[in-house]
Amino acid sequence: MNVILFGATGMLGRGVLRACLRDDSVDGVLAIGRRPLGVTHPKLRERVQDDPSDLSAAGVDPAAYDACFFCLGVSSLGMKEEEYRRVTHDLTLAVARPLAAANPGMTFVYVSGEGTDSTGRGRSMWARVKGRTENDLLELPFRAYMFRTPASSSRRAAYAPGPGSTAPSTPSPRRWSRCCGGCHRTSSSPPRTSAAP
Ligand SMILES: NC(=O)c1ccc[n+]([C@@H]2O[C@H](COP(=O)([O-])OP(=O)(O)OC[C@H]3O[C@@H](n4cnc5c(N)ncnc54)[C@H](OP(=O)(O)O)[C@@H]3O)[C@@H](O)[C@H]2O)c1
Repeated sequence: MNVILFGATGMLGRGVLRACLRDDSVDGVLAIGRRPLGVTHPKLRERVQDDPSDLSAAGVDPAAYDACFFCLGVSSLGMKEEEYRRVTHDLTLAVARPLAAANPGMTFVYVSGEGTDSTGRGRSMWARVKGRTENDLLELPFRAYMFRTPASSSRRAAYAPGPGSTAPSTPSPRRWSRCCGGCHRTSSSPPRTSAAP
């Protein structure tokens, strides 16, 4: 299996990268981001570019990849809706649309968030924007999985769990593999596939 990974310099993306590099079923990982990872591994190829959504600059042939893990994202803390939507929704869809069009057999795993609003119309700005992002991803003709992760620790304090939270401090590869089984698919759209990637 060949994988494209976005957001590999982030907290969750690093966990996904580690899981992919350790997993014998993953033959290769292409990490696309705006900063170098500082990691070398025989299975890892890296593409550093200002605009991670420019797949042609990254030399990506979507047909050559089986899955994409999209861990790129920002905290909404202190952001206006337009700015948050530009990264959360627009950038995500700018990556997902060409991948889905060129390779409908691809599996796309999106890191969403616990409490995401599938109606896309609620009062919470971040939940609304994530909800619209999920809904638009689920409309695309590939297998899309939404991973509604609870707040955990992050280099961005905005995700830090509150007092009494039992959220784990690091992402577990096992949670990702459960995710790939479709457990966090949103209910706003019927499942497009029952098969795990
Ligand atoms: N951590 C949590 O507890 C938590 C909880 C719920 C949901 N989430 C969601 O999970 C996703 C990742 O969270 P995280 O904690 O791993 O965040 P993080 O540690 O801040 O990492 C974010 C990643 O996204 C990249 N990125 C952000 N904005 C970008 C842009 N405009 N262009 C290119 N790359 C950009 C960052 O690249 P650079 O390194 O170049 O900045 C980094 O690789 C987010 O969508 C977040 O909403 C996280």
